[in-house]
Amino acid sequence: MELTWRVSQLIHLCLFSQTWLSGYCHLYNNRYAGDKVVRIIPQSDDEVNEVKNICSQLQVDLWQPSTFGNILNNTTTDVHLSNTSSETLLTYLRRANVKHSILVQNLQNVIEQQNHSTLRRKRRSLPKYDYEDYHPLEEIVKWMHHMNRTHSNLVHMFSLGTSYEGRPLYVLKLGAKPSSAKKSSKREVWIDCGIHAREWIGPAFCQWFVKEAVTTYKTDPVMRKIMDLLYVYVMPVFNPDGYHYSWTHDRFWRKTRSKMRFNCYGVDANRNWKVKFCEEGASFNPCDSTYCGPYPESEPEVKAVAQFIHKRRKFIKIYLSFHAYAQMILYPYSYQYDAIPNYKCVESAAHKAVQAINSAYGIRYRHGPAATTLYLSSGSSMDWAYDIGIPYAFAFELRDTGYYGFLLPDGLIRPTCIETTLAVKNITMHLLRKCR
Ligand SMILES: *[C@@H]1O[C@H](CO)[C@@H](O)[C@H](O)[C@H]1NC(C)=O
Ligand SMILES: *[C@@H]1O[C@H](CO)[C@@H](O)[C@H](O)[C@H]1NC(C)=O
Ligand SMILES: *[C@@H]1O[C@H](CO)[C@@H](O)[C@H](O)[C@H]1NC(C)=O
Ligand SMILES: *[C@@H]1O[C@H](CO)[C@@H](O)[C@H](O)[C@H]1NC(C)=O
Ligand SMILES: *[C@@H]1O[C@H](CO)[C@@H](O)[C@H](O)[C@H]1NC(C)=O
Ligand SMILES: *[C@@H]1O[C@H](CO)[C@@H](O)[C@H](O)[C@H]1NC(C)=O
Ligand SMILES: [Zn+2]
Repeated sequence: MELTWRVSQLIHLCLFSQTWLSGYCHLYNNRYAGDKVVRIIPQSDDEVNEVKNICSQLQVDLWQPSTFGNILNNTTTDVHLSNTSSETLLTYLRRANVKHSILVQNLQNVIEQQNHSTLRRKRRSLPKYDYEDYHPLEEIVKWMHHMNRTHSNLVHMFSLGTSYEGRPLYVLKLGAKPSSAKKSSKREVWIDCGIHAREWIGPAFCQWFVKEAVTTYKTDPVMRKIMDLLYVYVMPVFNPDGYHYSWTHDRFWRKTRSKMRFNCYGVDANRNWKVKFCEEGASFNPCDSTYCGPYPESEPEVKAVAQFIHKRRKFIKIYLSFHAYAQMILYPYSYQYDAIPNYKCVESAAHKAVQAINSAYGIRYRHGPAATTLYLSSGSSMDWAYDIGIPYAFAFELRDTGYYGFLLPDGLIRPTCIETTLAVKNITMHLLRKCR
């Protein structure tokens, strides 16, 4: 069946316009002109403190890792700065002889070199859905309805509630209906993408995985087993308000869009869960990008998903959350350095998943407990899922390691999704074996 995918109108983007093509009009109103991304690697505790200090004075947006408390000795920190702040920071780094490099000289240029259909292509419709492209929210929602209509044997779409701005929180439930005798015993997997708005590769992966499920069900024995023996919930866009905003206003928006104190917007939906709420690695300041929110589950998106997963915690055995970027597979805990009780099984699942990723294109992922592999953070969905009794909880940090960062080109969607699908299938099959 051929469908026409109409590309939506997006405000603030000079879409398809001749003026943009001839250089008079810029994506996102040219707001990133001259912005830089700088990678800093402090080499002593004194340097760490100096860098923390100057970064909190300047208006820097921390890319990876993502809280000031987590700038560490001999560890990479990528920061995004305006053209003017970058002068100040670079002058300081040079004078103080702090190890650093400039990852991006002019962020606006990088954004305008991207080839996403809606941002650039002039064709207004495509013969079929393009999984090797990023899609704005309206297209993803249309695509979900389409999958629900055309693959009703394997896909069931439903909504968990509504976002702060009133958008439905859609989920696709994948899996073949079992014979009635086994109905109540099917175990379940939860997958969410796009908790953080700017990490566009996440939603692209969730869509890819659904496509793989429906197109390889008949031919791939592993996928067939997964679909026959389990249900897999896929939530392609956890944070639809933020995702939409990252297309229309600010490509680097991370949080939800709820209105907070001090005229600031949004809560970090991965710091808002009811687990060690707002302790380490989260901010009480509503204007920060890691703001934990006024109280746990203050965000309707978090509350709706938490209620659903909690209700189904007897069935859900795997929780997977997709982020970018760092190339890591992380498992609990994030909030403390202690090892989890079922460390052996989880570590071995993560290790095999990393090997599975590597087997496709040789891409190297690191894996381990989030606290030691990435940084301490509290209120994360993964820790929450683990603490309510889901034995396998993982957070993926997809490609890359900072060269493109959040602006991963659409040409890399395909390899990234192929290798990640291998890892997800591998982890899921791990569940079907016993681990002792
Ligand atoms: C960035 O700042 C420098 C000097 O501080 C200026 O020469 C340059 O034009 C600015 N670039 C942009 C794109 O605004
Ligand atoms: C910081 O790192 C450097 C090199 O990585 C090391 O020599 C130094 O001991 C570290 N300082 C502290 C206080 O950990
Ligand atoms: C800094 O960290 C890297 C790995 O992140 C390690 O290979 C290197 O030895 C460390 N340097 C020092 C001086 O500790
Ligand atoms: C966009 O497409 C052009 C022409 O095909 C190509 O040269 C360029 O590298 C692409 N940019 C990215 C970021 O993929
Ligand atoms: C998905 O399709 C089923 C019928 O197969 C329908 O009952 C359901 O309402 C659809 N979901 C959505 C969100 O439209
Ligand atoms: C999982 O990955 C391991 C290590 O690469 C591999 O030996 C195993 O065959 C994989 N299993 C599946 C089901 O993909
Ligand atoms: Zn993230």
